[in-house]
Amino acid sequence: MKNYKVAVVPGDGTGPEVTAEAVKVLDAAARRFKFRLDRTTYDLGGERYKRTGEVLPNNVLAELKSYRAVLLGAIGHPDVKPGILEKGILLRIRFELDQYINLRPVRLYPGVETPIKDKGPKEIDYAVVRENTGGIYTGIGGLQQKGTPHEVAVQANVYSRHQVERCIRWAFEYARKYGKKARGAGPDNTLALVGKTNVLTYVFDLWERVFHEVGQRDYPDVKREYYHVDATCMWMVKSPEWFDVLVTDNMFGDIITDLGAMTQGGMGIAAGGNINPDGVSMFEPIGGSAPKYTGKNVINPLAAICAGAMLLQNIGELKAADAVEDAVKATTLKMKSMAAGRMGYSTTEVGDLVANAVAKG
Ligand code: IPM
Ligand code: MN
Repeated sequence: MKNYKVAVVPGDGTGPEVTAEAVKVLDAAARRFKFRLDRTTYDLGGERYKRTGEVLPNNVLAELKSYRAVLLGAIGHPDVKPGILEKGILLRIRFELDQYINLRPVRLYPGVETPIKDKGPKEIDYAVVRENTGGIYTGIGGLQQKGTPHEVAVQANVYSRHQVERCIRWAFEYARKYGKKARGAGPDNTLALVGKTNVLTYVFDLWERVFHEVGQRDYPDVKREYYHVDATCMWMVKSPEWFDVLVTDNMFGDIITDLGAMTQGGMGIAAGGNINPDGVSMFEPIGGSAPKYTGKNVINPLAAICAGAMLLQNIGELKAADAVEDAVKATTLKMKSMAAGRMGYSTTEVGDLVANAVAKG
């Protein structure tokens, strides 16, 4: 029987609650599809930081590199200054494990309410490939003469061709394999670059040149489009059916995927994967630690469960991944809402519904 070593980082706030449900579902999938998930849980987050002063010890980071994949709950604590845990844990793992792709599907499941009038699962069905290790997130910067009237702050959007090219290549591969044509949902597989070539004339000049060079040479079968990021936000609301696969930089990708998440039913359902195609990838709900709902058994675990499905796909358990996705679709049909406290079920009940559907097949 195949055995996968998986690290689980439940994290802060509602992270442990949603992670427990994701693990419940993963275990149901493992039983049905006959593989083993050898899970090790790591205590990282605000509570550990408050207790010990440790954010992400080097030995833990080194150990994480030895797993097949990582499942993360949420990072962020109301008593800890913003940035310490986010940069010290989440971003540090992304950067040091070189998870240079952040894949965030924007997919409306059956029965899920969207704030966009007259749009359904057929229209809201695309994916964002966010560059995940560069740009403003890691660019050069600093403050000078801090606290004086003359202080200056710089945070640069820095991209190397290497970073841009590997991200764009991965996005083309993804579009070829999972685009709308490949899925029987449209006439083409389309990759759209999202940028700001009219203002960021250096960084997105590089992105645009690499996009067309690589596309023309190696992916002539994938249709290419370009959108400015502001216009993208507009079309994500007005005509989401235009999109298939979008690729963009770290900062724009961060912003547009929150918008995308809201159109697919909110943070309760939106999941993403931090992917190193040659290394260890980490899967997480897009939302945060939701401190006000902690311990109440009301938070929606579906985002964490969907992150689990992405993890299964990543480790190659494709049938199990599909089974979890199907079970999620069957469950969203039964739920009243995706919002915490209004689901018509508790956190653990939603986990049970999905786990039972996975077990039955
Ligand atoms: C996300 C989050 C993170 C990011 C924060 C918590 C550092 O917003 O995963 O989108 O900006 O990438
Ligand atoms: Mn974000």
